[in-house]
Amino acid sequence: MRAVLYDRHGDVDELYLGEVPTPLPAAGQALVRVRACALNGFDPMMLAGTTGLRVPLPMTPCGDASGEIEAFGPGTDTGGWSVADRVMLDPYIPGRGMLGEKARGAASEYVSVPLENLVRIPDGVSFEHAAALPVAYGTALRMIEDRARVQPDETVLVLGATGGVGCCSVQLCKRIGATVIATGSSDRKLERLRDIGADHVLPSRSAELVRMVRAIAGRPRYHAPDSGGVDVVVNYIGGATWAASLKVLRFQGRMVTCGATAGYDPPTDIRYIWSFEQTIIGSDGWTRKGLARLLDIVADGELDPAIHAVRPIEEIREAMGELIARDVFGKSLLTL
Ligand SMILES: NC(=O)c1ccc[n+]([C@@H]2O[C@H](COP(=O)([O-])OP(=O)(O)OC[C@H]3O[C@@H](n4cnc5c(N)ncnc54)[C@H](OP(=O)(O)O)[C@@H]3O)[C@@H](O)[C@H]2O)c1
Repeated sequence: MRAVLYDRHGDVDELYLGEVPTPLPAAGQALVRVRACALNGFDPMMLAGTTGLRVPLPMTPCGDASGEIEAFGPGTDTGGWSVADRVMLDPYIPGRGMLGEKARGAASEYVSVPLENLVRIPDGVSFEHAAALPVAYGTALRMIEDRARVQPDETVLVLGATGGVGCCSVQLCKRIGATVIATGSSDRKLERLRDIGADHVLPSRSAELVRMVRAIAGRPRYHAPDSGGVDVVVNYIGGATWAASLKVLRFQGRMVTCGATAGYDPPTDIRYIWSFEQTIIGSDGWTRKGLARLLDIVADGELDPAIHAVRPIEEIREAMGELIARDVFGKSLLTL
């Protein structure tokens, strides 16, 4: 079968379309013919080898995928599943790890996964929309609803809101009824953030972010819950944004994180945490229930995944290059 591969860490030139044996499904597994897969923020990090994780090489990128069941492993109790069923894959496989991280990713014609990792795609949801959801939208759903517990009357600052996790965070906060301030790095991206519902947009590369957020949400005051500031900061950027974010949180505000695109050991300012009684919340991954719910709300027309581009798999280098250049809004899809 055809698969995107890289044999060593580096830049997009290391990516190539090669031939590898089609994986044989074991008992309890399904062989899925992949129709669409999606890149995530971690794919360029895995390619570059900057995550600290030991990656088995050659590696295939992409954790997210959707497709059709082609076959079952010998002796598999197929439960309610049949050949040709349309499925989204839950990318985390117990014992094997995450697709595209510890296990070969889904940018290939076929993938074998345990039946437990299949999520049925409802009628009316395309392969592209289904593949856009698992890692980014699944993580955002858990972060916004389960961990940060955003409320309708709250104001939320979403940093780096133009990526997959960010777009979904904006969309979910608006669905809840919150006011959203979102940051992005170009005028085109800021315009698109407004299109998906952001109430206020700010340039992410500005050194004036604290001043600009306070101009919108007001200045936080000690022990004054009704003074200014945002209720929640969604911050998976880290780096220089970390300490800045503490300065715009209202008294007893919350900052939620699921990553650190710009650096995981940033300078901080602990004084803000105690004197403003702030809460830092971690959020990791998604739930299978959450993935099924996302598919349902997309099927109901209540959530429209932000799609940057849909390209044939042959254009993997262009797609990965755009992600590295921060020239993507939402999800970058590849079809096979
Ligand atoms: N823990 C988990 O389970 C989990 C799951 C999914 C993702 N994550 C993490 O969440 C983060 C976001 O993931 P994603 O897939 O949405 O990533 P993404 O699509 O690459 O988006 C991240 C956004 O961050 C901004 N950005 C990129 N590089 C930056 C840099 N060096 N400095 C500052 N801003 C930068 C970009 O926005 P602008 O250029 O417009 O500013 C980009 O749109 C990543 O750190 C990822 O590892 C964690």
